Amino acid sequence: MIKINKKSFEGYYKKSIKERQEILSKELLLTNEEQKLLEKESSLSFDIADRMIENVIGTFPLPLGLATNFVIDEKEYVIPFAIEEPSVIAAASNAAKLSNGFITENDEQIMIGQLQLINLENACESKKKILENKEKILKEVEKVDPILVKFGGGPRDLKVNILDTPRGKMIEVQLLVNVGDAMGANAINTMLEKITSVIEEISGGKHVARIISNLAIYRRTQSKTIWTKEKLEESVKGTMKGEEIIERILDLYEFAVATPFRCATHNKGIMNGIDSVVIATGNDFRAIEAGAHAYASYKGKYSPLTKYYKNSNGDLVGEIDIPLALGLVGGAIKVHPIAKLNAKILGLKKVQDLASVIASVGLAQNFAAMRAIATTGIQSGHMKLHAKNIAVQAGAIKEEIELVAQKMIELKEVNQLTAEKIIEEIRE
Ligand code: MEV
Repeated sequence: MIKINKKSFEGYYKKSIKERQEILSKELLLTNEEQKLLEKESSLSFDIADRMIENVIGTFPLPLGLATNFVIDEKEYVIPFAIEEPSVIAAASNAAKLSNGFITENDEQIMIGQLQLINLENACESKKKILENKEKILKEVEKVDPILVKFGGGPRDLKVNILDTPRGKMIEVQLLVNVGDAMGANAINTMLEKITSVIEEISGGKHVARIISNLAIYRRTQSKTIWTKEKLEESVKGTMKGEEIIERILDLYEFAVATPFRCATHNKGIMNGIDSVVIATGNDFRAIEAGAHAYASYKGKYSPLTKYYKNSNGDLVGEIDIPLALGLVGGAIKVHPIAKLNAKILGLKKVQDLASVIASVGLAQNFAAMRAIATTGIQSGHMKLHAKNIAVQAGAIKEEIELVAQKMIELKEVNQLTAEKIIEEIRE
């Protein structure tokens, strides 16, 4: 086993990318081939990458694909997905094709900033004083970012909660700010830091935390669509009645409501699509994930982020309601060349357009998984690409890949050993 010598990496951040690659290669005895993998530049140049994060040694490409067939708020879209998992894009495109188009609604882009206060002599009194001075505090917040205010954003409200903790009473001040077209973390954190002393003075408390909350409950998007029984029946070539598919999907949905073990997977399927577009547009997928799962538990029980029911016509209605703290400015969005290109492909004018797209993708993705599970089972759709991957892993090249994958599917034996045997037979 290769042992890392910590000393060789001292001051690593001060080195150039080339020097960092050399140190790593030397320490890990990288082969020429491996070194070349690091040295190869992609559309994200080393220059830009080096300005985005620390200790850059290369870039990490992901496949970028386009989901098709989406009509959202009567506008047609092709949607870039950055993802490593097969079948996700095909599934979303298919779900969009089967749907009647998506209708969405967006909240204002309000983020919550939290200020934590401790050392309170009388928490109730402090709370009262903060609330009495709400207008004054919000005026102070406005002064921090007059440009944001000029363009319609800025502070909207201030809430105060007393928290009973094992370390005594604390106060949570929630600052609600419309952050415009940004994700908002920088704006909110700056505002909180600038107004801390004012709030400390008013409350008599001392701050510890002043940071954005990723549980963006005031920045949610809803998307809704209908899948008719006729289209659903067609989608399985009449092998199952549309009504039966809908009943099975509703049973599967209630299974997710009833058990967190299914619910986690149900929501994971939603995030397959959501994260792909979030990554493709240079947004912060950790923030979106944190917000989504916290919101799924917000009402006291971990629940699906989507909802399904039958309308009076007996067709399937699907809805999603999810917090989406996205940006069109700031962070990687305006720096990463492919993220910029993807924003152009989506034709985004305002951040809510992106939220509408992403929420609809999440709903489509979830429906696609539910339809597959409730009808043929998930593996049949997955198998083709999976088989190709196994074929490549087993050493298949060029046209062999398709042949080996096909043969494995026919044999219903998709595994490395079978792939190796088939390759041997082909080559003989
Ligand atoms: C796989 O990445 C996602 C699914 O497991 C989602 C689901 O089960 O609903 C197919």
